[in-house]
Amino acid sequence: MPSPTMPFRHPLRLALALVAAALLAACGEGKPSTTPTPNGDGTAGSAAAPTPATKPIRVGFAQIGAESDWRKANTDSIRSEAERRGIDLTFSDAQQKQDNQIKALRNFIAQGVDVIAFSPVVETGWEPVLREIKAAGIPVVLTDRAVEVTDESLFVTFIGADFVEEGRQAAKWLVEATGGKAVVAELQGTPGSAPAIDRKRGFEEVIREHPGISIVKSQSGEFTRAKGREVMETFLKSPEGATITALYAHNDDMAIGAIEAIKAAGRTPGVDIKVVSIDAVKAAFEAMVAGELNCTVECSPLLGPQLFDAVQAVIDGKELPRRIVTPAKVYGQSTAAEDLKSRVY
Ligand code: AHR
Repeated sequence: MPSPTMPFRHPLRLALALVAAALLAACGEGKPSTTPTPNGDGTAGSAAAPTPATKPIRVGFAQIGAESDWRKANTDSIRSEAERRGIDLTFSDAQQKQDNQIKALRNFIAQGVDVIAFSPVVETGWEPVLREIKAAGIPVVLTDRAVEVTDESLFVTFIGADFVEEGRQAAKWLVEATGGKAVVAELQGTPGSAPAIDRKRGFEEVIREHPGISIVKSQSGEFTRAKGREVMETFLKSPEGATITALYAHNDDMAIGAIEAIKAAGRTPGVDIKVVSIDAVKAAFEAMVAGELNCTVECSPLLGPQLFDAVQAVIDGKELPRRIVTPAKVYGQSTAAEDLKSRVY
């Protein structure tokens, strides 16, 4: 046996050891030997050996874009957490287009990453590419938004908020603040996206019980400030415009854009028109301190730590719950100045 201090005194032993090391390294490069495939029940599977400490985990993440403050904070959280953990992250920005996201997912297959994660811009149309990923033996973790698929084994877990509940919370606040009497304009998120569908559903579920509240205008503002302002302008100029007493925006950015439109129309946001939105980004707290926004429902974008905990669990062959829900909290004007001091996004 070679001594620990002088391992290869004989040249033949050194040569044999080098050949063996090269063979081991070559085997380690075959991804299927280190990556578990998801089981039909959504658990991660158990075939995998842990990835060697020297070889970073390779993750492909397909982001939607940079449409809102929420999205930018979400990207920062994912990038910074990957860096902190030494994850080899390939990040792609789809600029709001499903086609771009699908292309990115196919690139990740070609690169042979260990795990693919993405936040789907819309709910439907993912099944074919998810089948390709499954056939390549790469586990998928969904973050932020859900997909509609017939085969639940196409992803391991979905980490994100309960958007229906956020819509309910916004409506409950409105019922309370208006005594159940309001003429509402609604700014929806990206058409076909999970938050736009679910936040609308949750809100309507609650106001259905309150006949004094009606939605007179509802249109997409695409989750952006510019579009939120533009659509609110058209709402206010419409025949129903003068009757509007409340705005429900599916995110803070659209609410902040709409506040500008309300002021430009000579009405007072937060007073003449009550404003409730979702996300709880810093700018919403600033608007609440200014008295222009009344309430925001939190939807945390800080998903990086949970995402990479899930990725690590998949790599380690551990079981994961099918759904990981991030908590929501409702914020109002009375505590906004104090809350603002500790907001991190
Ligand atoms: O999917 C989460 C939503 O997407 C956020 O509420 C919104 O701001 C973002 O663009």
